[in-house]
Amino acid sequence: MDRRPIGVFDSGIGGLTVVKEIMEVLPDEDIIYFGDTARVPYGSKSKETVIKFSFQCIRFLLEKGVKAIVIACNTASSAALDVAQQSFDIPIVGVVEPGAVTACRVTRTNKIGIIGTEGTVSSGAYEKAIYRIDNSVNMVLKACPLFVPIAEEGWQDTDIARLTALRYLSDLRDSGIDALVMACTHYPLMEKTIEEVMGTDIRLVNPAYETAKVLETMINSNGLKNERPRQAEYKYYVSDNPVKFKKVGENFLHKPVGWVEKIDIEK
Ligand code: SIN
Repeated sequence: MDRRPIGVFDSGIGGLTVVKEIMEVLPDEDIIYFGDTARVPYGSKSKETVIKFSFQCIRFLLEKGVKAIVIACNTASSAALDVAQQSFDIPIVGVVEPGAVTACRVTRTNKIGIIGTEGTVSSGAYEKAIYRIDNSVNMVLKACPLFVPIAEEGWQDTDIARLTALRYLSDLRDSGIDALVMACTHYPLMEKTIEEVMGTDIRLVNPAYETAKVLETMINSNGLKNERPRQAEYKYYVSDNPVKFKKVGENFLHKPVGWVEKIDIEK
């Protein structure tokens, strides 16, 4: 029995798609979320910068007394998960491995598409994770950087979103893939638009649910579960603009975002 909260961080608001799944899979667990809204996106930044930012986020969550950490950002998971696991004495879960496992489970043609930020795509993290599971899989990767600001603006169901998706995804649609990993925390918000372009025969994979299941297994096997049924508490911290976070965050969480505090992550 461990009453401490779970820490989750992301480059901004998108990690709330992972929080939403954690709330459902582990309803008795308190969550402390940090969204680095002052420095989003991470996807276009260098690996060194993303590692530096990720370590600052992890130290902040450790100060808040968390018992485990979820790196909800694909870019940060790709760049910083291994080095963070070696550097901090706390269980840390990323989103890449769970996304890879789900994609390998659902593909029938053994051809998987992966869309993410420039940082995620160029890191090779998904190729590595998928080849560890099945080295016969073929992959097609594509960076879709504009999906992040579109989702942050709440424009995911607009003509702008549809035209952008068409431009990014037409080649992928005709490439023979039968599964497409939405390897960026923001992309599940674009799911309807992405599905319109890709068609219903291509299965869209959202790593968020599988990440929550991996976290659940890790919490249980390390004796970290908060056993008592209770009303869980959720606290949100951001590095910029709590009002916008609250407003747009509700699109991601599908429920009101309560308490949000702005902090200085570089202090
Ligand atoms: C970003 O920070 O660029 C998007 C978040 C992600 O990679 O999941």
